[in-house]
Amino acid sequence: MIRVRKEDLRLGMFIQALDGSWFDHPFWKTKFLLAEMDDLRALQSSAIDGVWVDEEKSLAPAMTHLTASKSASTPVPTPRQQLLEELRPQPRRRIKRDSEPPREEQSAVEGVPDFDEFDTAETVLSDCKAAVGELFARIETGDGVAAIEDAGPVVSGIAQSVERNPDALITLVRVRTLDDYSYLHSIAVSALMINLARQLQLPPNYVQQAGTAGLFMDVGKAFLAPELLSKPGFYSAAEREEMQRHAVLGADAVRSSTDLGKIVTDVCLHHHERYDGTGYPHRLKGDEISLFARMAGICDTYDALASDRPHRPARSPADAVSKMYKLKHLFDESVLTKFIRSIGIYPTGSLVRLESRRLGCVVAQRHDQLTRPVVRVFYSIPSGAYLPVDEIDLAEEPALDRIVAREEPARWGISDWEKFALTILQRQKAKRAA
Ligand SMILES: [Fe+2]
Ligand SMILES: [Fe+2]
Repeated sequence: MIRVRKEDLRLGMFIQALDGSWFDHPFWKTKFLLAEMDDLRALQSSAIDGVWVDEEKSLAPAMTHLTASKSASTPVPTPRQQLLEELRPQPRRRIKRDSEPPREEQSAVEGVPDFDEFDTAETVLSDCKAAVGELFARIETGDGVAAIEDAGPVVSGIAQSVERNPDALITLVRVRTLDDYSYLHSIAVSALMINLARQLQLPPNYVQQAGTAGLFMDVGKAFLAPELLSKPGFYSAAEREEMQRHAVLGADAVRSSTDLGKIVTDVCLHHHERYDGTGYPHRLKGDEISLFARMAGICDTYDALASDRPHRPARSPADAVSKMYKLKHLFDESVLTKFIRSIGIYPTGSLVRLESRRLGCVVAQRHDQLTRPVVRVFYSIPSGAYLPVDEIDLAEEPALDRIVAREEPARWGISDWEKFALTILQRQKAKRAA
């Protein structure tokens, strides 16, 4: 991989990455063979300084004039190397209140997220719901472009909650009623997008844009018949086709020429495109789908799987994660891996069985050790009795206990697990038994 100044670009070079922000150049996809004169001119007249070129994938004659400058280049890791690097155990991180710690420190501090956020997030959520309702109503009446620009404070509120504790808002949204589904789904997807953007280490303005896009990507549904949206059971082919129009309707309602407008429009239009080309509306494939739309497809699918819908009950969060993994051909695998890292293999709020034959609720993630989260135990299987809640950090050495399985709450006679889990999450940090 070598870096090439834009003046030195030649047809036949394989572009692996572009320098600068997405808005400095007209290319949504950033990996392609430079085969068109128009593309070459567009790149040379854009604001970027240079590009990264994959020598092996380039056509040989394009590279010959560059041999002299080659030694000055720095290698860029391949996506596979990046993925391996990403999966290496990392130092623990703690989510702090108030100020954003510098990025290097963020993953270097020890500890667990802020549990108070499970209470604070109640207020964040109810404020958000009201504000999102108003924004959606404005979009319905044709004021979409301004509504997107005015969403800043709502998205910042969600982002700050996610920053303090990435799981609080997402877990809280799960304890929701069906009538609220559309606003809550939007808020949940926005929070998941923000969490994923942070995991991908995107710059802060991209994190905000990802959150805004997540909030509005399903806004097109506001233009469909309410009976269709709440219909129980399966859709007919005609109904499914009607339902799929929400992507185009949403994009049309928010289309504008601002940077934010372009991103939100793209995500509305393409969040149902799938990596293998089986999505809609344009059957885009792989990198033809923008990074934000690929992220949105993952967050949207996860939230849909983990929510109660008129036609089927919710999966548990851990079940939703394993289902996503089985469907990995539909998604950009490197982004999916980071998504799973961002919410955990046993997401917060999961019911798990421990080796000690106790049941517990996962209350916090260890992003360096996804199979060893923090768990609050509350039930003894051998004695068939509830226990005083006790918190165990499974990442502690020597290991105090270990997860042997995720469990279905219904099997243990717990009918309203989501609310039960929230009570455990909101409980004051339990004292560890001596
Ligand atoms: Fe959608
Ligand atoms: Fe959706």
